[in-house]
Amino acid sequence: MNNAPETLANDPVALLRWYTDAGVDEAIGEIPIDRFQADAGPGAVQPAPQAEPAVQRPALSRPVISPRSQHDVGDAAQGAAHLAQAAKSVEELRAAVEAYDGCGLKKFASSTVFADGNPKARIMFIGEAPGADEDRQGKPFVGVSGQLLDRMLGSIGLDRATNAYITNLVFWRPPGNRSPTDQEIASCLPFVQRHVELVDPAVLVFVGGLSAKTLLAKTAGITKLRGHWYEYETPGMVRPVPCMALFHPAYLLRSPQQKRFAWRDLLAIKQKLNAALPV
Ligand code: URA
Repeated sequence: MNNAPETLANDPVALLRWYTDAGVDEAIGEIPIDRFQADAGPGAVQPAPQAEPAVQRPALSRPVISPRSQHDVGDAAQGAAHLAQAAKSVEELRAAVEAYDGCGLKKFASSTVFADGNPKARIMFIGEAPGADEDRQGKPFVGVSGQLLDRMLGSIGLDRATNAYITNLVFWRPPGNRSPTDQEIASCLPFVQRHVELVDPAVLVFVGGLSAKTLLAKTAGITKLRGHWYEYETPGMVRPVPCMALFHPAYLLRSPQQKRFAWRDLLAIKQKLNAALPV
């Protein structure tokens, strides 16, 4: 973002405030720099100076995976699958995720955001990715959208301190709050699948379109997916778990007129949870 008013050019404090008000909280260039390589010490190969891109291309909403990175995804996901399967409890899974280096996001994050709430809860929520607040505190959904999620849970008698469990599709914050790439998601997916197996909830809720599409293997968007019950199952599960997708609270904060649909979905979730046999 470099279209700040010219009048701010000589006032760095006002300029910074302008950027903050516009939601810019990260300094990220157009071209990635491998800072591990750059910081590797005196003998290290320095990255070649990067030219500015000649043409500014619009960002792709879902990054294209090259054949090379597809291979890498396979390797990372396979490593993750072995580690995830070896975990026999949620605490072992947390330790495995914390020790895992196969997701590129970890390099840029301050903390691993594994989960919050009661792992014995009968309902499990899966969001998308940690943001800045989550990265600072090491817990999912603790920022503004997390506060709305807490109110949404409270409206149907749920509370992460006692009877709800919350995690995300990826365990590290994507820089600048971009969407995680397919590769980053694939490298965390075996842990997410094992997480559901170990928690074994009676009801599973996808918070936002990304986790819904990924775990249901659907291409439809959240507007189509929400409001319907699906079944989620992995080979390691004793039985399929009923699941529903919910509008992401960050979206509801931007589009409050959609809250009525979220309310409808929350009531359906409450009903399903009440009707589900104790597990
Ligand atoms: N949004 C998410 O999807 N997850 C978080 O933890 C925070 C914001």
